[in-house]
Amino acid sequence: MFVEMSHPNRITETVLKLGLCCGVAILVAIAVATVIGRAWSLADSGFAYDQFRQMLPASEAHFADEINQWFTTHPILTCLHIVPGGLLVVLAPFQFSSHIRSRWIRFHRWSGRVIALAALPVGLSGLVLGAVFPFGGPLASSAVFAAGALFLAAVVQAFTAIRRRDVVRHREWMIRMFSIGIGISSVRLVGLVLLLIIPTSPLELRTGLSFWIGFALTFVAAEFWLRHTRSPGLTEQLRTSAAQQIVGRERRERVS
Ligand code: HEM
Repeated sequence: MFVEMSHPNRITETVLKLGLCCGVAILVAIAVATVIGRAWSLADSGFAYDQFRQMLPASEAHFADEINQWFTTHPILTCLHIVPGGLLVVLAPFQFSSHIRSRWIRFHRWSGRVIALAALPVGLSGLVLGAVFPFGGPLASSAVFAAGALFLAAVVQAFTAIRRRDVVRHREWMIRMFSIGIGISSVRLVGLVLLLIIPTSPLELRTGLSFWIGFALTFVAAEFWLRHTRSPGLTEQLRTSAAQQIVGRERRERVS
């Protein structure tokens, strides 16, 4: 009976984990490509996302150049956003690997500090972008303010939880923070889908909808994953391994 029940469960679990890893890998790759594309356009202002321009309806093609121009005339704000943002999305996936946490805890700690520090300029500059970026309109700005506030609150919660040595809460808030961060990639994917479904609607409406739907998708997926993995077994396992690491570290510190 147990074997009959556990086998399909194990398959579902493997499929879920595989789907999650592939989804995260795709979203991280999109975020990195966007960061590189934007950094490139700052270095070479002639670089204007030719493919992006071709995808837009003819009446909106000029927006590609105007958006490019806008970022070029705001280089400090753009760099404050994309440099720590790129660092965050590249480092963060390693933080969730239990293999890395158990073998290279020092890497996990240092990388965690870098991520928490990087998250502050990303979130703050994101909020400023939401206020001053002229192409999104109020619908996009409201989504950016909601996502930005949640993103900053999540990093503060994750940080204070680990100072209290509450590993379970720390993991949950870090997952939330990361889900909002890579939401920036699903925003772009949703934007492309909307362009296919409602190509004649105003750019402002499509941008606003893609921000709300894109951020919500990754945030809801993260909440689903948190609920799914909030079993007493995992919680206990996380608490025990964290306690062992803390005791080990304290012993090493006493010896040295
Ligand atoms: C942590 C991961 C993040 C990365 C890697 C990232 C990256 C980027 C990049 C590369 C751009 C320029 C887009 C382009 O070239 O078209 C951008 C724009 C922008 N980001 Fe972020 N971002 C992140 C998080 C956030 C967060 C949390 C917010 C919300 C507060 C945000 C708000 C914005 C806004 C409003 C813009 C301007 C509008 C746009 O280009 O879509 N970003 N981001």
